Amino acid sequence: MGKYVWNGNMLIERTKAVVDIEDRGHIFGDGIYEVFRVYGGRLFEPELHWARFVRSAQAIRLELLWEPAELEEGVRELIRADGLEEGIVYLQLTRGAAPRSHTFPGPGTPPALTAFTKPMPRPLAALEAGVAVVSRPDIRWLRCDIKSLNLLPNVLARQEAAERGAAEAVLHRDGVVTECSASNIAIVVNGVIRTHPANNLILHGVTRAVALRLAAELGIPFEERAFTLEELYAADEAFLLGTTVEITPVVGVDGRTIGGGRPGPVTRRLQESFERLVNALAPSPAP
Ligand code: PDD
Repeated sequence: MGKYVWNGNMLIERTKAVVDIEDRGHIFGDGIYEVFRVYGGRLFEPELHWARFVRSAQAIRLELLWEPAELEEGVRELIRADGLEEGIVYLQLTRGAAPRSHTFPGPGTPPALTAFTKPMPRPLAALEAGVAVVSRPDIRWLRCDIKSLNLLPNVLARQEAAERGAAEAVLHRDGVVTECSASNIAIVVNGVIRTHPANNLILHGVTRAVALRLAAELGIPFEERAFTLEELYAADEAFLLGTTVEITPVVGVDGRTIGGGRPGPVTRRLQESFERLVNALAPSPAP
């Protein structure tokens, strides 16, 4: 963990930071968040994250007192103060502290912003070998496009996956795959990438958007169309997309092998392009 917390105004030592017991994030999960990747001390795709943060705030009627540029300056200061090279920045905004009541607090109640860093190495072993995942029912609400603090269904699904020795839980609604507990998922069938449309049933992932942009650049066809669990089992390739998992090949689902148990060629091409984006921020030392 980093040494400092940024509260939208100043840096505070983490051990001295306090959260009001009636903060609405704490009491109701009434807030939103973002997780940014940091490579070489620099933010990965910040514009996409800020755009989603603003959309999430609007969707839950949370007034943003900061412009994204001000937020980014604060986050950069935090990264510098913590000396973070490789890891994540977690940023959350709640509706502030007020006596517990389901209705919104009065107009004078300031929203509460919190940001902290965490060193996190890249998942190199998983990127190379791929991971196994298990399917779980998607029991979430119908606004999964909002990056809300309410993650209990995601937490339960991920815990069940971990207890089965799997890296991630693939969520499905009546057999139709939506996304995963903390990542999006895509399959490759006959050379075409397929992933759930960016509607209310999934988080509009930054990595998903970047991967589709890279696919377009590489001339790899893609469809934003939902697929079933059966189609996932029969896919030529599958991969996870997320800030922490990057583009991770999926080589097993529910005990079945995908793509002969090895990452496939389309996944590898996307990974190579993604690597170039990472290297532009954090050049690897010459061998
Ligand atoms: N999770 N879907 C869900 C439900 C997620 O929570 C995430 C990210 C993603 C991938 O989005 P992105 O590419 O923008 O990271 C998809 C973050 C990392 C988390 O909660 O830790």
